[in-house]
Amino acid sequence: MKKIILLFAAVILATTMTTVVVGAGMPSQPEVKKTVWLDQGWSDYDRKWFHHASQGTATFPIPFEWFVELQQPIKGLGGILGASKKFIDPEYLSSFGFIVDTDEKISRTEVSANGLPVGFAVTPNFRDPITEREYNAIGLTCAGCHTGQMTYQGTNIRIDGGPAVTDVTALATKLIIALAENGLDPIRHVEFKNAVIRRHLNQGSTKTRRELAAEFNQTRAALEKYLLDGIIIGIKNIKGSVTEGFTRLDALNRIGNTVFGPYHKDNVVPTDAPVNYPHIWSTSWFNWVQYDASIMQPMIRNAGESMGVAAGLSLEPGTHQFDSTVDIENLHRMEILLAGEKDPQQAKEFTGLKAPKWPEEILGEIDQKKAEAGSALYAQHCSGCHAPAIDKAEFWSDKYWQPIQGSEETYYVVKTVPLDKIGTDSAQANVLINRTVNIEGMDMSGSLCSDPYSTDKVDVTSTANTPFAFALGLTVQNVNQYYYEKNNIPAERQEVMNGNRPNCLQAPGAYKARPLNGIWATGPFLHNGSVASLYEMLVPAGQRNSTIYLGYRGFDPVKVGFVSTVADGLSSTKHLTKLVVSGPKAKKGNLNSGHEFNDGEGPGIIGPALSHDERMQLVEYLKTL
Ligand code: HEC
Ligand code: HEC
Repeated sequence: MKKIILLFAAVILATTMTTVVVGAGMPSQPEVKKTVWLDQGWSDYDRKWFHHASQGTATFPIPFEWFVELQQPIKGLGGILGASKKFIDPEYLSSFGFIVDTDEKISRTEVSANGLPVGFAVTPNFRDPITEREYNAIGLTCAGCHTGQMTYQGTNIRIDGGPAVTDVTALATKLIIALAENGLDPIRHVEFKNAVIRRHLNQGSTKTRRELAAEFNQTRAALEKYLLDGIIIGIKNIKGSVTEGFTRLDALNRIGNTVFGPYHKDNVVPTDAPVNYPHIWSTSWFNWVQYDASIMQPMIRNAGESMGVAAGLSLEPGTHQFDSTVDIENLHRMEILLAGEKDPQQAKEFTGLKAPKWPEEILGEIDQKKAEAGSALYAQHCSGCHAPAIDKAEFWSDKYWQPIQGSEETYYVVKTVPLDKIGTDSAQANVLINRTVNIEGMDMSGSLCSDPYSTDKVDVTSTANTPFAFALGLTVQNVNQYYYEKNNIPAERQEVMNGNRPNCLQAPGAYKARPLNGIWATGPFLHNGSVASLYEMLVPAGQRNSTIYLGYRGFDPVKVGFVSTVADGLSSTKHLTKLVVSGPKAKKGNLNSGHEFNDGEGPGIIGPALSHDERMQLVEYLKTL
């Protein structure tokens, strides 16, 4: 009885969440006749590897075999009569914005991500360090959130390292509904159980049917507990949360909830600072990453993220404290693919993942004369914060590249602009300033670097209100250290895997201005995705669209960004994420204020008003970067 109530609660909760998030159906999308991956310096092999390499996560709370055998939530009579399609149906998954290459199909025997969308990875024999349960896990990897796509005149252009146009929370919610329905319907459930067992046998499992059935029941028990915890977190989360929807996620708050939530219930906070998935070419060489320029070391960033998307992790004090499933070797390989092997300042180019070039054959020719006029305006109004274009010698000068604590390599020094000057939505930049976590009793202490340009350190201890950044920074550092020691990684190799950089953290209350290479392919803009096009970035905030819709994949090559309003060509706004970004109904977290070019002075005004022609010239120039 308790179980039934539990499952009902899950369905109700999940249903309310989805109606808020996606509505009942799927966004209609522009028709695709052809797909193209742009040349960004990766071989085909590199790309496929990056798309499906495991970072050791079990983001989806069920084994691989469950995931591929599960049916979609019931829709209409067909579903009730048992004719529902599989959850992994490519059309279904692409309705959440995931990129599915339909030429690759899941075979009946393989334990691999083959046939699953870009960014889905399988971890065979995943061993949960807390429960010690071992199973084939399925989770997200970098490419799931960092692969972009857009469609123009029938051509779907894919961008490695670009912002994903996905709605991850809607997918997770539908998965919970599908699981709950499966549990409630006895006939469906028995069929499902048999299918899962058959799949194990086809995959060459040496276990007997009886053993596999017992394993299935164990998984189901673990899942029920997971759902119960999830309901508590879900309810706490909904109150005060801001819809993330397509193209956005409150990664920072979610990491805190996932890593520290199970340790103490007070550590779960609303997700109220959603950000647009950032593009990740060149970022390996920034001295600070994250929108708020808070993290320095690539391995800390990457391992922290994999914990955020549910790598297995043990935090309780004891000999296994900080044991995890994080695949540090793979994380390093991913980072090298992004960064390239050469020191960019020496090579005078980025040799890893390159920014995509505007494809003139698809999106139309760039007007060189107009772009030249834009170039002069850029030097006047933009390069002071965003640096000159990367094909200019000046970009590679010592003015922009500095060593860190005597390192051989140099790193691009990002300019950070304080909140009161840039005037954009303050939610994300305030998370690390305000949030603390209760980690009392975790018995964790150590020191972290607080200033990369000196040897200053900050001591961290486990208290009832340890600053979140320090708690996370030290936890991740310990998890990485545990891995290094367990695997006898020599000290010099550890340095290399840590990106030769110390684990410095800061919370500057600012946003970073980055070089704008490849910016044309990265809409929506600003850290929270509240501005739809490059053109809109250059109009006074009061004249920007006050409501935009995210999730439509049609591209606008004139204003440069996604088609996101009816005025710009959306035929229907149904099933897209509606964002009210200014006016009395706009929520904090979604505001499109600041970064203004306007007459007068004031918070958020960073340059003079620009005419329509000047804006168009600037946009033309931005296409060339
Ligand atoms: C679940 C989605 C998700 C996954 C998976 C993910 N990221 Fe991210 N990533 C984000 C979001 C959202 C941010 C922005 C966070 C912020 O600044 O608040 C981000 C930030 C970054 C940044 C900083 C970019 C900048 O502009 O400063 C880098 C670099 C990065 N991710 C690389 C990776 C790598 C490498 C992986 C895999 C090892 C990965 N990400 C996996 C969502 C994801
Ligand atoms: C005073 C410094 C400053 C100046 C001058 C400046 N920017 Fe920015 N820019 C920033 C900062 C900081 C951000 C990040 C703000 C945020 O995300 O909230 C940003 C963000 C952007 C973005 C969005 C990037 C993304 O990933 O979404 C674009 C596009 C952009 N700027 C273009 C320009 C152009 C074009 C000019 C000149 C006409 C310009 N900026 C002038 C500081 C500046």
